[in-house]
Amino acid sequence: MQLHMPNYPKLIEKIEEHLKTHLTKHRCEHVLSVRDQSVKLAKIHNINSDKAELAALLHDSLKEVPNNKLLQYAKEHGLLIDKYEEKNISLLHGKLAPFFAKNQFGIDDEIVNNAMRNHTTGAPVMGPVDKVLFVSDFCEPLRLYNEADSVRALAQNDLEEAAFEVIKYKIQKNLSKNRIIHPDSFNAYNAMSQNRT
Ligand SMILES: [Fe+2]
Ligand SMILES: [Fe+2]
Repeated sequence: MQLHMPNYPKLIEKIEEHLKTHLTKHRCEHVLSVRDQSVKLAKIHNINSDKAELAALLHDSLKEVPNNKLLQYAKEHGLLIDKYEEKNISLLHGKLAPFFAKNQFGIDDEIVNNAMRNHTTGAPVMGPVDKVLFVSDFCEPLRLYNEADSVRALAQNDLEEAAFEVIKYKIQKNLSKNRIIHPDSFNAYNAMSQNRT
């Protein structure tokens, strides 16, 4: 499934150019790798690969923006910040990505937006494109941790199970480091757990 936009290749080119000139080399390589992984998974599982591609290319656009600028950007766009995000401002890079996508590239698609919003914490309700990005961000081939390989292999056959593995890993990692865990992650875990057969 793909978007029918005559200028789609041009748009992708424009975004790639922006990434190459605004992100560090390391981040840019990660984002392009997430894109490749997302498109691959979307095609395997018959999910809209253009939306998955756009969400992947833009998900970390604001990842390198300093906390004070993220807060300012949130304020300018009237984004309410919860008490967990207050303690971990960097979480806002996903929630703010849709504003960036619209302002910079005129992209305003709720499926793309939700995937970007939910890519770090997960969410109680996650659609197919959300899961593609959530999993691909975790398992793209440049990720060095061992779990990336097993999740990548699993995701080819079962995207739901792969997403379940990712949310478990993320919660466990936060627990082991005594970090605050956003309730969206617990809610994502519970929803995925309940949906398993
Ligand atoms: Fe991110
Ligand atoms: Fe990322």
